[in-house]
This record gives sequence, C-alpha cells and structure tokens, in this order.
Amino acid sequence: MNQTIQRRRERAELALQSSSDALVLVGAGEPIAVPGGLDRVYPFSAHPHHRWLTGRNDAGAVLAYDPGEGWRDFAPELTDDDRIWEGITSRAGEPISGLKPWLAARSGRPIAMLGVPVEGIAGDTELSAELDQQLLHARRPKDQTEITLMNRAIEATAAGFARARAFAEPGVTERAIQIELEAECFRHGGEAMGYGTIVGAGPNAAILHFAPSERTVKHGEIMFIDAGCEIKGYAADVSRAFVIGESSAMQRDLHAIVLDAERWAITQCTPGTEWKDLHLRTALRMTQGLIDLGILTGSAEGLVERDAHALFFPHGLGHLVGLGVRDASGYLPGRSPSNRFGLAFLRMDLPLEQGYITTVEPGLYFIEPLLRDPANRENYHDAVNWTEVDRWIGIGGIRIEDNILITDSEPINLTESIPVGL
Ligand code: GLY
Ligand code: MN
Ligand code: MN
Repeated sequence: MNQTIQRRRERAELALQSSSDALVLVGAGEPIAVPGGLDRVYPFSAHPHHRWLTGRNDAGAVLAYDPGEGWRDFAPELTDDDRIWEGITSRAGEPISGLKPWLAARSGRPIAMLGVPVEGIAGDTELSAELDQQLLHARRPKDQTEITLMNRAIEATAAGFARARAFAEPGVTERAIQIELEAECFRHGGEAMGYGTIVGAGPNAAILHFAPSERTVKHGEIMFIDAGCEIKGYAADVSRAFVIGESSAMQRDLHAIVLDAERWAITQCTPGTEWKDLHLRTALRMTQGLIDLGILTGSAEGLVERDAHALFFPHGLGHLVGLGVRDASGYLPGRSPSNRFGLAFLRMDLPLEQGYITTVEPGLYFIEPLLRDPANRENYHDAVNWTEVDRWIGIGGIRIEDNILITDSEPINLTESIPVGL
C-alpha cells in the first residue's frame, strides 16, 4: 500500500475512533444497469469513501476495518468473463468470499456500513450515519496527491476553455463548442467530464444546467460555459461567460457585478469562514449592484432578508470539489437545509478549513420562468423594477466559477489561469 493511502487510513482511524468496538465496512458499490439496456451499465464510479481509502475504482470491492486489527481489502474474484471480455488479469485484495467468515469471527459487534451498503449484511443505522459524517469530515481537507490530481484536471480543463473561446464565433452551434472543449480536455489528459458540460448562448445562458443544443451562436450574445474534466475521479468545476463580438453596456455591468462579488468572496475563503454567511454576504454585494443598476429597489439588507436576490441568484455560492464535482460537501451534524427561498439550495453549511477546495460561483441571471411567475411578481412587486426586468429577459446570465484551495494564509485560486474577461 502506498504512503498516501496509509496516511488516509490513519486519518480515518482517528475519525472513527469514537466507537472502538464497531466494525466498519466501506463498500465501493456495484455497476448500475442502464434501464432496458440488457447488459449495459453506466461507467462505474466507486463510492468516494471507498475510492479515497483504497485509491481504486473497483466495482464490488469492500474495505473492512476492525479497530483492534486494522484494515482488510476484499475484492470480487476474477471470473472467466473478466479475463475474456475485459482483459482483467488480477484484482487487488483478498477474495470477497472471505468477508462473511471475517464477520462471523467477530459476530455480535456493531457494524457501521459506510460507502455503498453491502448486500446481505445488516449495519447499525444510527452508528453508520454517525461514522459516515465523521469519515466525510476527515475527507474534506485535500492531501498533496489530491491537490496534484486537481491541478492536472484543471490544466486539461483550462486547455478546453481556451479552445472553446477561440472556436466560438457567430454561426457555430453550442454543441460544436462543447465538442471542441471536451476533445481538447481529453487531448490534455482528461479521462472524462466531471458532469454534463453546459454551453448556453443568449437566452440559454440563463438556464442553469443547460445541455448544449444545435442553436447557433449570434453576434453580441453572452456565451456561457460551465465545464470541468476529471482525472482519476478528481474533477474541476469552472464557469466563464464571454460575449461573441461586441458586448453591450448591460452585459458589461452584469459581468462587473458578478466578477466583483466573486473576487471579493474568494478573498474571504479562509479557515473559519462560515459558508452560509459568506453566501449571504456575497448576495448582499450583488444585490447592491442590482440596486445601482435600477433592477432592484430598496436597501440591500432588506432585500436579502426577503430573499429578493434569489430571483436573480437562485443557487448557492458553491460547494466543495475534488473527488467528484460535489465531493464532501454537506451540512455539519445538527445543521439542516433551510426552506428559505434564498437558502434552500445551499449545498453546504460548514466552516471552511485549511486544505478544503471549494468552488466560488456567484451568478446573476434573467430566468424567464422565475421572473414571469405571477407569485414572484406579486411577492416582490415593490422590490423589483419589473418594467426594467421585462427589457432584459432574454439577455441570459453570467456565472463565474473558480476552484479555491483554503490555506492558513491567502486562498489559492487554482483555476486563475482561465481568463475571466468578457
Ligand atoms: N457544474 C455544476 C455546478 O457548478 O455546481
Ligand atoms: Mn459548481
Ligand atoms: Mn459548475
């Protein structure tokens, strides 16, 4: 076992210490069948707890831990099908058939079932939930191996963005831009995209998770791209917006508000910063920008208290990123998602700590279904200049998203090399 994995297991041992009698199982999971696809399965992605503790992406593998004795790696036995169809010649770990006897020799002990539950074995629900949170927390700070993989994923992503930007011109389709971006990522070492690439031009730039279409890009439109490639499971998550040809004053104003908010929020990414507070303070800053633009009316504080900002910024400020695009985000034990319109979509509620990598991704959008909703027009009749809003529906939206490493001094913007200019 290499040193990185050794150190992670030691970190996990400390995190799981609270229950010294419990056995721990960490399942990688099984391939997921494509509905109606006969023997087709989705590309396999091991549960991140398992992958982090083993460095492997092996379906069916189970890592077992007995605090008195240490770790045991179990893996499915190699079959003829594996050898003949997949060319697999060996598997790391002892045969999975040894797991049941291993458990039987320790019968009566509580079992914490982490990762993907192992079929046929009953875990203790409460204990599993508690230790799952502890392991999740132990995974949050990134080690050097993880930072190196993130930087490689980011380098490949940066190449993809550079290609997309050079290629985007009036007449090309969103889909063609996606193809260029992804191909360039793969040419630079990307193994997969970390999530569905978003490419939206003009009004499509206001659709938060827009899948690129055959629509051609037009002169003067906002071009919005959110993409990140993945290497050994580590994903970048980057958003940029730019204008094809000449930008308008409104496009420049929106871009300036978002960029200012993003740059400011990045400076606040230091150990101890509570993410929910930073989200709200960033919302306040963009709300003041929208007041200055004549879109919102009133005081920024009052508007954010009423969640008026969420009409234009209807998502969270960001999430942890690393082993998978959402990595070990979430809510600290005892905290739960709010049902406030302006907070319900926060993907995490925790203080930042050294070693975390978080996205910072404020955005402002003119989202037609939100802004034409009669209930919103009624609730916010005095907060929004609706005549002005009507002028801008169709302009799209802008999100600027970087991946930030928290350190004990200044935050490091890992994605800084990807130009943010309009
Ligand atoms: N790519 C989705 C997100 O930014 O969270
Ligand atoms: Mn993101
Ligand atoms: Mn993104």
